[in-house]
Amino acid sequence: MLHDITKEESLSSQLQTIAKSDIMNDTVLDKSPNIYHSITAYLYAKDILNIENNDVLNAIRYHTTGRKNMSMLEKIIFTADTVSYDRTYNDAKRLRELSFNDIDGCMHIITRFIISDLINKAAVIDINTIDCYNNVLPLKGLK
Ligand SMILES: [Fe+2]
Repeated sequence: MLHDITKEESLSSQLQTIAKSDIMNDTVLDKSPNIYHSITAYLYAKDILNIENNDVLNAIRYHTTGRKNMSMLEKIIFTADTVSYDRTYNDAKRLRELSFNDIDGCMHIITRFIISDLINKAAVIDINTIDCYNNVLPLKGLK
């Protein structure tokens, strides 16, 4: 319910929110507007809604990038964002089914796609996505 709560805010407004926080706005984040809303939604949940559950806060914060050593809640929110029933891309059904049987393998495919897509666009890659990719190994034989 909260992971995209700030997604409709303008990017400049979200950057201002990030700048006022203690989250470092490095060159990677600055050049990754698709990530802004996960940070600002995290800040909204923490500072406005006073949510103190770190698992919930981290699930919101890392739902776009992933990270290493994610909790099961974080993995579910990260994966659900890509395989939800409203997704209609070619592999959506296969990934949706895989997510129920091998969430790490599913996340490996998702992060592989994200990283490949960013490379093809000559875009920056958040280090958390690389860490996530390296941290979720597919089951033997998964492609
Ligand atoms: Fe999102």
